[in-house]
Amino acid sequence: MPDLDSFSALLSGRHSTRAFLSTPVADELLRDLLLLARRAPSGANLQPGSVIAVRGEVRRSLCADLVTSWRAGLQEREDYDYFPRPMPMVLRRRQVASAQALYGALGVDRDDREGRDAQFERNFRFFDAPVALIVTIDREFGCGGYMDLGMMLYGLMLAARARGLASCAIGAMASFPGLIRRHLQLDERSSIVCGMALGYADPDAPVNRTRTARCDPDEYFRILG
Ligand SMILES: Cc1cc2nc3c(=O)[nH]c(=O)nc-3n(C[C@H](O)[C@H](O)[C@H](O)COP(=O)(O)O)c2cc1C
Repeated sequence: MPDLDSFSALLSGRHSTRAFLSTPVADELLRDLLLLARRAPSGANLQPGSVIAVRGEVRRSLCADLVTSWRAGLQEREDYDYFPRPMPMVLRRRQVASAQALYGALGVDRDDREGRDAQFERNFRFFDAPVALIVTIDREFGCGGYMDLGMMLYGLMLAARARGLASCAIGAMASFPGLIRRHLQLDERSSIVCGMALGYADPDAPVNRTRTARCDPDEYFRILG
């Protein structure tokens, strides 16, 4: 039987990490983590989605273009809707709390636009993590496929953590799907879901002290009957 205590520690000890050491991650280890993550269940075992590691010149020019586009305020139509529009107040409060946790850890003030922008821009450089991943899904998939893919991504985060690595999903990447498709030579059928930064956490980086809370169980859990 798996040890529940160590699994619980794995779940509760995972946090999004946004600053990394330059220590490389071996290809072999990355492959192992992806294979483990692919053990995730999926409807009819369709195993939707794919993960592309970008490196070298591809990564350099992708990040340069992402940063340039973001700085210029360019906007693309995203491949899928993430947040509800309009955002209900109860969710807005959670969103604000997570931003406060992040910028609080960084010591960036609420009104410090430059400080916030500088942190946001780091999304488009995968937070300088040694491993930069782009996650895609076939455009024909509906919500179920995204659900399956999410399970796979969480498995990847947890497997990474079990091997001493840290990660952060990067939904911000979904803002520039066309640009990413061009750099990665993907056709229109590939929807851009998110990015992911993976590597060994920088223990001294203030941003990695970000800690988020969770809502009360009463807000999402009921027992009927
Ligand atoms: C699909 C997904 C997309 C995310 N996108 C971003 C992002 O673009 N930038 C970022 O800094 N954090 C991003 N995050 C991290 C969330 O902000 C973080 O998971 C949340 O605040 C809870 O904190 P925790 O992961 O430390 O528990 C993303 C997380 C998920 C699951």
